[in-house]
Amino acid sequence: EDFLATVAEKSSGAALRGDYQHMDAHYVVQQDWAAYTEEEHELWRKLYQRQAALLPGRACDEFIEALAKMDISAGIPQFEKTSKALFAATGWTIVAVPGLIPELTFFDHLANRRFPVTVWLRKPEEFNYIVEPDVFHDFFGHVPLLFNPVFADYMQRYGQGGLKAMKLGGLDELARLYWYTVEFGLINTPEGIRIYGAGILSSGGEVEYCLTPGTKSRHIRLDIERCLRTLYKIDSYQETYFVIDSYQQLFDGTAPDFTPIYEKLKTMDVLPANTLLEGEVELLPAV
Ligand code: PHE
Ligand code: FE
Repeated sequence: EDFLATVAEKSSGAALRGDYQHMDAHYVVQQDWAAYTEEEHELWRKLYQRQAALLPGRACDEFIEALAKMDISAGIPQFEKTSKALFAATGWTIVAVPGLIPELTFFDHLANRRFPVTVWLRKPEEFNYIVEPDVFHDFFGHVPLLFNPVFADYMQRYGQGGLKAMKLGGLDELARLYWYTVEFGLINTPEGIRIYGAGILSSGGEVEYCLTPGTKSRHIRLDIERCLRTLYKIDSYQETYFVIDSYQQLFDGTAPDFTPIYEKLKTMDVLPANTLLEGEVELLPAV
């Protein structure tokens, strides 16, 4: 459910979904909120209700609290309204985009504290699963955590790191970090492991699956180099979840210059998604 993977997949030439006729140089469009139909608002409400009911005891508190304040249960939200509140909280804004956008454009938005949100909503038959990110994934999944100052800073730093990785040939590696943190990340809390990754939080099935003991999926402490080497699944539940202790760990762990890491990883094999290396501890062992 992420543009980094989907763009790679689509470089085969399949057309992107969305209207790319009326955008500016940064792929930004008007949301045109008045154009959403009542059926689309109804579909949003159903998606919202299904997901919201799954969150208590599973999503991290930061997500649940921010989502409640955003007040977006009644229908597809007006980006402008949440964007203002978000800017007041962390200096981020929301920009509307037609759909998947080029990597350079995406990184540039993040580096400038702008989060791109797709304007279109999935079709009713895509209720449970959608390949490309839509407004529900982007808005419901990603925006709440941007109200957290430390996570918001990590996202900006990620954008800066992306621009740099493009020059260093480290994009595949860096994309894995985005995948395993921003999209599919778990966090340790005093109450237990909780979800902060948007790809999980907007998914009907993975919210429960990823916290279920005894599946074939690994739950291991995030080590950045290890994560950068690890392949991921784009068409099934994840086989590895990396668990952080705090958002500060993400911010601090990505402060160093990655140039030597990219160099080193070029000499090492990538790891399959279900790898467990010697010495690694599974944090959610089989019951
Ligand atoms: N600090 C990393 C570098 O110098 C960039 C980076 C930032 C990577 C944030 C990941 C996340 O390349
Ligand atoms: Fe996403």
